[in-house]
Amino acid sequence: MTESTRQIPFGRPMLGDAEVQAVLEVLAGPILVHGPKATEFEEAFAKWTGASHAVSLSSCTAALHLSYFYLGIGPGDEVIVPAQTHTATVHAVELTGATPVFVDAEPQTGNIDLTQIEDKITDKTRAISLVHFLGIPVDMERLGAIAKNHDLFVVEDCALAVGSYFKGVHVGLHGDTGCFSFYPVKHMTTAEGGMLLTKHPQVKERIKRQKAFGVDRTPTERAVPGVYDVNMLGFNYRLNEIQSAIGIEQIKRLSDFLKSRERHARMLREELDGIEGISYFAPPNEDHVSSNYCFQVVLDETLRKKRYEIVSYLKTRGVGTTVHYPHPVPRLSYYREKYGYVRGMYPVAESISDGSIALPVGPHLQDDDIEWIVTTFRQAIDVVRSDKE
Ligand SMILES: Cc1ncc(COP(=O)(O)O)c(C=O)c1O
Repeated sequence: MTESTRQIPFGRPMLGDAEVQAVLEVLAGPILVHGPKATEFEEAFAKWTGASHAVSLSSCTAALHLSYFYLGIGPGDEVIVPAQTHTATVHAVELTGATPVFVDAEPQTGNIDLTQIEDKITDKTRAISLVHFLGIPVDMERLGAIAKNHDLFVVEDCALAVGSYFKGVHVGLHGDTGCFSFYPVKHMTTAEGGMLLTKHPQVKERIKRQKAFGVDRTPTERAVPGVYDVNMLGFNYRLNEIQSAIGIEQIKRLSDFLKSRERHARMLREELDGIEGISYFAPPNEDHVSSNYCFQVVLDETLRKKRYEIVSYLKTRGVGTTVHYPHPVPRLSYYREKYGYVRGMYPVAESISDGSIALPVGPHLQDDDIEWIVTTFRQAIDVVRSDKE
């Protein structure tokens, strides 16, 4: 490929012959839902992460929603949420009728600012939700202590954090539930899909039912066909056999995917470090091991005025980028209109949204793609700087 035709998407699903074969095998059989593949996928994911219980689900959003639904929270209750996250983290609270209470981010990691949580806790608070932002783990010891002090349930949004560890323990295993996403550009994919991890057997048992209409037994568990009861409210949030079969194959490749991300992120860090006017997120110490979802740079006050020129320059030279996330959630119109928002309420989250560019590091890249990204990014900065002068 010549340099002028180089195309480097931000993310690309890594699917090969093994995934195709696994899907064909499912399609050749009679069971598309409620089958052995979902169970096998749950067991494989639990083993890989070290979890005691895993429930496969149709998305991370479903996992988050069921975490709150399990708790039985609703109108009048409050849940602490990060202001800097994907809207799904907060929609999941909103869907229950409970009120999300936003907390700003900390600048070094983009994670929820642990020093601000306790000020937001009231006698209505039932849970704390956190996101391991771009794969950098939150300090779960400090967060766990806050939750324990106030007797709060902890929901970990691990959508970007398969392969992230805090003090040697996989994320999602520190809180009460851990919610994962297998959307196409994530660390591994099932097209759409999610997983909920929990250390509590009762959470697993209930969520297993709640993801399938609240029916008290699955078709395979029914001694007599057609005989079942519905003893709780539930949804249809199942992961099907085709998706599960893809997931089983993806887990076999996950460690290699993560090594590749780590290598690419390290190369970008080494090459881009020291450019005036840019900073990047980094784990605070070795207790925090990141899954390297991307390499997100934050531009200073001058450069961020030219962010779209930089992004366009990269795009015309084939470098795909994105922003995590384009707005702090409370600034999105649904939340702004419902809860009120004025500029400056969440200064760190706002700064991240308004000044970031996320560069790709996925396993779809080769080393020379990284070199191309570095050269192009440096050129883009030079070009916008010379524009200014
Ligand atoms: C932090 C975070 N949480 C939740 C989600 C939603 O994941 P899903 O698409 O699997 O519902 C996303 C999606 O990218 C995300 O970035």
